[in-house]
Amino acid sequence: MDQGRAARRTEVVAIGNQKGGVGKTTNTVHIAAALAERGRKCLIIDLDMNHGATRHFGIPSDAFLGAFEILTHEEKPLDVILSSEDRDDDLTLPENLDLIPSRRKLEKIDQALAAKNKFLVMQDVLLEPLEQLRGLYDYIFLDTAPNATTPTIAAYKAADWFILSAIPDPFAIAGLSDALTDIQDAQRSGNPNLRLLGVVLSGVDKRTTLANSLSDYVEKIFTPDGSSRSAKFDTVISRSTAIPQTQKLGKTLFQSHSTHKVTDQYRQLAREVEERLRAFRGEPMSKPIGEVLPTLPTQVKEALVANG
Ligand SMILES: Nc1ncnc2c1ncn2[C@@H]1O[C@H](COP(=O)(O)OP(=O)(O)OP(=O)(O)O)[C@@H](O)[C@H]1O
Ligand SMILES: [Mg+2]
Repeated sequence: MDQGRAARRTEVVAIGNQKGGVGKTTNTVHIAAALAERGRKCLIIDLDMNHGATRHFGIPSDAFLGAFEILTHEEKPLDVILSSEDRDDDLTLPENLDLIPSRRKLEKIDQALAAKNKFLVMQDVLLEPLEQLRGLYDYIFLDTAPNATTPTIAAYKAADWFILSAIPDPFAIAGLSDALTDIQDAQRSGNPNLRLLGVVLSGVDKRTTLANSLSDYVEKIFTPDGSSRSAKFDTVISRSTAIPQTQKLGKTLFQSHSTHKVTDQYRQLAREVEERLRAFRGEPMSKPIGEVLPTLPTQVKEALVANG
């Protein structure tokens, strides 16, 4: 990796929602890939023991050191970064997109940290590794797990920005309230600078009325009182078989389906991400977005009741 360049202003972005299967990893990989295509230098840190982002790049499980070693400070982040510049047949990372991979061993992180130092504040373990990386990238994306494991909590504690992943599924929408509470808890308990950059709605099939009504609902509940701007990104990611296909290949859509509609949606989303960052940086922190309204749309309530 070229370390001799001028320092960059690094934005650390956590992508989360402690609900499983809501597109966190797919969004992390493709927002980063779209920004990398725009020439931005990006790093993804895979903080999930199920290593979805690592698998997305076709990297075999347990092949490389990564998140576990940087969180336990056994390795310096710069020594475990995988990049397109690496000459390894197993690696096909896109240009400008680096990865700190994860593996199953991450499930043992708490025991490993406690064995090192019983007084260690576990939620702070990502702060020092990130300090070593700031200035080298335009963006560092933190892909988090669907539960409150130490690496996930450490991501909420260390990030500058938060992108919330949501899908138009009644249960996922009903759970958005918990996702917002998690962000607010992180703001109250140690990371007052954490800001919600936006909500990405993905896996949307616009042909269904439920998806359209849930999309409108998400738009509405994420519009703070008195504001005309919703935290939901205007760009919505469609549901497409291209996504599981590219994941099976261990590639990004930018490598396997570069002219696909969904690839273009991620390009558009990346532009929105950069526009928001430019707008938000100079702005004082807006009023926190209120609790998600308990008044779920009728269709969501009906779907929840029908499913017990
Ligand atoms: N736009 C889309 N169209 C079709 N399938 C999608 C889309 N986005 C994600 N998926 C599929 O949905 C599943 C869950 O996506 P993903 O792994 O990104 O979610 P996640 O929130 O990271 O899950 P986990 O909480 O388990 O880490 C995957 O099988 C993925 O292929
Ligand atoms: Mg994931």
